[in-house]
Amino acid sequence: MTKAEIVSTGMYVPNNIVTNDNISKIVDTNDEWIKSRTGISERRISINENTSDLATKAALKALKTGNINPKDIDLIIVATCTPDSFIPSTACIVQKNIKATNAFCFDIDAACSGFIYGVNIARQFIENKSIKKALIIGSETLSKIVDWKDRNTCILFGDGAGAVILKEGESSGIISSYMESCGDKGDFLRCDTVPLYNPYSKCNTKEHINKVSMEGREIFKFAVKAIIKTIKKVLQCSNYNIDDIKYIVPHQANYRIIDYVSKKLNIDKNKFYVNLDKYGNTSSASIPIALDDMNSKNLINNNDKIILVGFGGGLTSGGLLIKWGSNILK
Ligand code: UT7
Repeated sequence: MTKAEIVSTGMYVPNNIVTNDNISKIVDTNDEWIKSRTGISERRISINENTSDLATKAALKALKTGNINPKDIDLIIVATCTPDSFIPSTACIVQKNIKATNAFCFDIDAACSGFIYGVNIARQFIENKSIKKALIIGSETLSKIVDWKDRNTCILFGDGAGAVILKEGESSGIISSYMESCGDKGDFLRCDTVPLYNPYSKCNTKEHINKVSMEGREIFKFAVKAIIKTIKKVLQCSNYNIDDIKYIVPHQANYRIIDYVSKKLNIDKNKFYVNLDKYGNTSSASIPIALDDMNSKNLINNNDKIILVGFGGGLTSGGLLIKWGSNILK
């Protein structure tokens, strides 16, 4: 059976490094609190690049390392909750920038689970043989929707983009997946768009909040449950058990979430790949950034089995169990 296999990875983060000490000049916080409560030391904050700029640079890296002609890309999906615009989609802007003239393109928003959802959507087109190659990007400029007066949230997030190219594979590729959403818990992590304001509406524009607000403890509780359930589900839908898995690549939100899950499932902490100390929480970009990081450090080898697991706004969660292929380029 045809599988959808990752053949190359890419990432891009803005040059501007913002340390915890830098943030403590903006809000009442300190390096010790942020490190001990989250594991984050620094993050990248964009000065003049928007989500499509980051996405384009991550995509160009994935195309270059995979030695793939943009004209051979059939589908571009950008997972983002911080698009440049309502219209056009960020995916269409990326298409223009990289000259992928034969692709159809759209964005999806599943917040921090967006990359998992995007890969899972693209996978269907490849497995049913309606396309050959897809570019999936997670890209965010969260800095533009973060409330820089709120120390509960502004310390957590960073800007960045990660990309993968999927193509048909036979023996390696995506083995199993699981996705779940809990819309009834959506208010725990919110950011509104423009209010409904027109000649017929009675909207009070003053009530409009277009910055991130979060119930951190509720998300924490949701996250640990969602990661545990997702890992169990993707394993159940495969012929593998946890000992067969080389790495678990979780959405990079908080080291304590990962620590809690590793203890609860009795999984060696070193099995979880963590790079949130350098980039913070980059939402949909965090998993593909981690993948590219691991790929460039030669951490994943042919036939390695890895689990990717995302969770976040919506609330959403999802995971993929992947058998890494020999064709993957660094
Ligand atoms: O992408 C998915 C989205 N997000 C997540 O996954 C986030 C999940 N949640 C978390 O990671 C954690 O809940 C946080 C890191 C957001 C917060 O950690 P916490 O251990 O749950 O802290 P808390 O919100 O319970 O706050 C504890 C104390 C409070 O002070 P009091 O009320 O005990 O006096 C806060 O006001 O820490 C205070 N606090 C801070 N102090 C210094 C909150 N933020 C800060 C800060 N610096 N930045």
